Formats: sequence, structure tokens, C-alpha cells
Amino acid sequence: METLRALHAKRDTRSYTEAPVSADVMDKMLNAARMAGSAKNGQPVRLVVVTDHADKVALKASGDYATWIDQAPVIVVLTARADAGPRRLFDIGRHAQNLMLAAHDLGLASCPVTIHHPDVVRETLGVPEDVEPSMIVTLGWPGPEGGPSPVAGPRLPLAEYVSIGDWDSVGHGDGAGVEDAATS
Ligand SMILES: Cc1cc2nc3c(=O)[nH]c(=O)nc-3n(C[C@H](O)[C@H](O)[C@H](O)COP(=O)(O)O)c2cc1C
Repeated sequence: METLRALHAKRDTRSYTEAPVSADVMDKMLNAARMAGSAKNGQPVRLVVVTDHADKVALKASGDYATWIDQAPVIVVLTARADAGPRRLFDIGRHAQNLMLAAHDLGLASCPVTIHHPDVVRETLGVPEDVEPSMIVTLGWPGPEGGPSPVAGPRLPLAEYVSIGDWDSVGHGDGAGVEDAATS
């Protein structure tokens, strides 16, 4: 899939079929995540892949908006070394986006999920104290309710999103002609 088109078409999806995700497909997605750059190439990010049903149910309590995540065939927990400093959050985002765009390219659905209660992740998966459970990404083949998410909406128009030169300047056009699969 052409990258630009994939960037526009990717929606965060919480509906999955029960079909398992093969080891080969998992490897492709995990390798794409692995290739994300990191500050000073410090590589503070580690992933935990969770498919055990009991663990997935337990992880529902790790987020305030995570009641549905046990429906996903695969939960990936993205962690970062706590001593990696504030840039680890950017690193986590890059790894998560690589993972989700690779999933999208392969026809899988995905959704990022916030970890509000990291201790739940620590207890469930044995994550040590010097490692921070930072974000969850759910993965699976798209299910029947793959429509817009409950809080989905169109993205900001380009003119509101971008200023040219300084903060108060006129924005960068109106985005006309740019395909936005979220709204079309
Ligand atoms: C940092 C971040 C945290 C998110 N946390 C949650 C979450 O806890 N639970 C959830 O169901 N969706 C979560 N989402 C998904 C957002 O709701 C979704 O990105 C947004 O509604 C846009 O959806 P769309 O891409 O389908 O338009 C999160 C997304 C991001 C980027």
C-alpha cells in the first residue's frame, strides 16, 4: 500500500474477528516497530506481546478506557526504560506508529490504548520497577463493527493545524484536495 494513502486511511479500530494472527504476520509488524529510531539510538523501548486470555482480561484494568481490549487477539504492551528521560515518550510514539502502520499495510486493525494504572501491567506481566509500561496497542483482523470510533471526528483543517512563519500567521491553505478517509 502506498504510504501516503495508508497514512490518510488508517483509523483506530476496536472491533476484531477471533481469527488468530500468525507468527509470520506478527514478525513483520514487530520488525517494523523495531526499526523505529530513538534518541541517541538509546533503544529504550521493549515490547511484550500478550495473547493469553487471562492476561488480556487482567490488562483491562490497566486503563480507564480499556474495557474492550480483551476482544483483541493480540495486545502489545510498549515499555520504556524509566532512565531514558522525557524523550522516551517520543520513542514510544514512533514504535507504536510503526507497529500500527505495518498492521494497516498487512490488512490488520489496531488501536492505541492509554495505560492509566501501570501497576496492573507490572503485576500481570512481571514488568520490573525500572521499566515503565507506557502504552498498549491492540491488534487483530478487522471485525464487523470496524466503523468510526465513538470519539472519532474529522481532523483539523490544514489552515488551523499549520501556521507559516510565526504563531499568528495565516495558516497553510484549507487542505482542499487532500483525501481524508476519516470524513469521506
Ligand atoms: C495517545 C493516545 C491514547 C489513546 N487512548 C485510548 C484509550 O485509552 N482507549 C481507546 O479506546 N482509544 C484510545 N485512543 C484512540 C483514540 O480514541 C483515537 O486515536 C481517536 O479517537 C482518533 O480515532 P480515528 O483514528 O479512528 O479517527 C488513544 C489514542 C492516542 C493517540
